[in-house]
Amino acid sequence: MQGDCLDKMRGIPAGSVDMVLTDPPYGMDFQSQRKADKSEWRPKVANDKRPFVWWIMSAAEALKDGGCMVCFCRWDSWASFQFAAEMAGLATKSQIVWDKMNHTTGDLKGAPGNRHELAIFATKGRFTFHGKRPQSLGAFRKVSPSRLEHPNEKPVDLMEWLVSHYCPDGGTVLDPFTGVSPVGVACINTGRNFIGIELDESYFDIAKRRIEDARDKVLTLNADKD
Ligand SMILES: C[S@@+](CC[C@H](N)C(=O)[O-])C[C@H]1O[C@@H](n2cnc3c(N)ncnc32)[C@H](O)[C@@H]1O
Repeated sequence: MQGDCLDKMRGIPAGSVDMVLTDPPYGMDFQSQRKADKSEWRPKVANDKRPFVWWIMSAAEALKDGGCMVCFCRWDSWASFQFAAEMAGLATKSQIVWDKMNHTTGDLKGAPGNRHELAIFATKGRFTFHGKRPQSLGAFRKVSPSRLEHPNEKPVDLMEWLVSHYCPDGGTVLDPFTGVSPVGVACINTGRNFIGIELDESYFDIAKRRIEDARDKVLTLNADKD
């Protein structure tokens, strides 16, 4: 769905979703360069001035009893997301860490090179794994800068790892801030249903194209098997 998730989530029936997997604006006021010489910048991500937590109540309502939420955030917005999740009635159970296998630049002399991202793992009622229990740390390479279609783009294999462990086969995943939708592609590739929402029309169009391409690939593979 293209639009504001605060509106669109009202149409999702309560208790219909197995997993909320999302990467919301954390409050970084982030703007990335399009060119290495800083002569061109990409547009800023919408609603990124402060941690955007207002959707969590609707996400918790959409979840089934026994469902879960994996929500990316950062060390400096963790408290806001944890508080919002708990106010919405979710139990925050632990952290999931994405090891990016390479560090970013930042303050070269005064802060460690940052090579990980965090996600909050929260549950509604009693969640249990449907398959093998995963570990809290997953190592996946970042999307290479030359292939990025979104300034905050996450890799599809990271999302496949999360979806396949935290959502049952054939279950439904909701991503209210889907960007160019690595979560949607991961759902197609792993046999989950997907509801994605994105505000920005150009990212939405890319997401739609990526999801349709992934679906066509799966259909062709299945046809070849028959
Ligand atoms: C951190 S980015 C997600 C990037 C995504 N993980 C990817 O790999 O492409 C957050 C996204 O949320 C979108 N967004 C911001 N506010 C929104 C809202 N109210 N409803 C829906 N999407 C929103 C932004 O346009 C942005 O694409």
